[in-house]
Amino acid sequence: MSRFPDDFLWGASTSAYQCEGASLEDGKGLSQQDVINKQNHDIYGFADASVASDHYHHYKEDIKLMKEMGFTAYRFSLSWSRIFPKGRGEVNQKGVAFYHNLIDELKKNGIEPIVTIYHYDLPLQLVEEYDGWLNRKVVDDFANYARFVINEYKDKVKYWTTINEQGIIVQYWTKKCLIKDKYLKDDRWRYQLNHYMNLAHAIACNLVHEIVPGGLVGSATGYSPVYAHSSKPEDALAALHANELRNLYYTDIWFKGIYNENAMAYLKSRGLAPEIAEGDMELIKSGKSDFLALNYYRSDCAEYASNNENERFMGVNLTGEKGKTDGEETHPGFYKMCKNESLDTTEWDWSIDPIGLEYTLKDLYDRYRIPLMITENGIGARDILTNDGKIHDQYRIDYMKEHIKAIKRAIDSGVKVLAYCPWSMMDILSTTNGYSKRYGLIYVDRTDKDIKECKRYRKDSSYWYEKVIKSKGEEL
Ligand code: BG6
Repeated sequence: MSRFPDDFLWGASTSAYQCEGASLEDGKGLSQQDVINKQNHDIYGFADASVASDHYHHYKEDIKLMKEMGFTAYRFSLSWSRIFPKGRGEVNQKGVAFYHNLIDELKKNGIEPIVTIYHYDLPLQLVEEYDGWLNRKVVDDFANYARFVINEYKDKVKYWTTINEQGIIVQYWTKKCLIKDKYLKDDRWRYQLNHYMNLAHAIACNLVHEIVPGGLVGSATGYSPVYAHSSKPEDALAALHANELRNLYYTDIWFKGIYNENAMAYLKSRGLAPEIAEGDMELIKSGKSDFLALNYYRSDCAEYASNNENERFMGVNLTGEKGKTDGEETHPGFYKMCKNESLDTTEWDWSIDPIGLEYTLKDLYDRYRIPLMITENGIGARDILTNDGKIHDQYRIDYMKEHIKAIKRAIDSGVKVLAYCPWSMMDILSTTNGYSKRYGLIYVDRTDKDIKECKRYRKDSSYWYEKVIKSKGEEL
């Protein structure tokens, strides 16, 4: 391989509630993820978020490992309820100090922080008070929180991502938000909460541009390109529709300031469209993104759906047994998702498709001409710690190698890519599968049932990635 550009950022990602733990320590308030993960613990036996990977207490050791691997960037999120335990009002100075210490330690080690303002963990207080993201009041509270953190860390943080994976939140709203029963029967609320997030995103973009000298900001989107199941024209049209409703409905907002018309027409026809108040679209248009952060794991496949099908959103595989995903997303008369027989999958049914990343980078660059960064990419697996303290995760090396090659091909064809931050720096609490499904370059020795000491071990992939980084992508 030829080298990546000298200023290309190499690192990895995490999110606050999935790795920090210390969920009630040093003044932190509960977030909706603390509650959701406690429910997952009680129902499925997955770990809760109270200790997670104990990064709160291990952050210096974790940064030392990042340094060893040669990281030049680290993408992580701030916990809103660590900073404002009740969502607004009194600031928790110990929480503010934790992120100063983390960022300072990163910078001391030559690692550029890429900060996500919001990654699923709304303060619980705001859900209890007014139902969180389902109430427009959340936009003001988000603006207050965003202004505070952007101002607080402005001299240290250049790259900001706003809200993690709005599209995935729409698909899996009960896993990413605490939703009261009264809303569950009406899927319109999924798109309403997304509309409020669009307002919040625009406000955060404006704040970064106002407050941070030279600051750059963008959304982090969960993005899977959609292929047609066959060359039948009706399948091609279904794939086009799926791409519009799952992908362009979000990216058009950020880069064109409009809702994708065809997707919106479909939502209106099904009574799912959000209410848009006067002035909302002007606010949305004013919030300019500087880049798009991509969380790319897989591609998807769509086929024709008749008008008689039932509306349903994405299913989930809770067991890690291939083929056990509980149903495919279906939008009657528009599209339904299906298996792509040409691709292998992980144990959790996620297709493995490095070419899909090249396709996505080229497609998005063609559409919007904006720089892109990869803020998530990785393979969830049941890693095994051997008796001599090793983790032989060749499958992760294979996965990352092919995706890095795909990025390089896109760069060579003229696409501007700023960074590669795979998921995840260390094993984290998976949003759907606890610790049985691991993503980390660093193994965290704990299980769903036994927290142990969360001791860190370098996986084979971390040694391989170190060589990749140190050779600027030449040695794959
Ligand atoms: C992304 C999220 O959707 O995928 C992460 O941003 C998440 O928070 C990752 O962990 C992998 O998904 P999962 O469900 O396997 O943890």
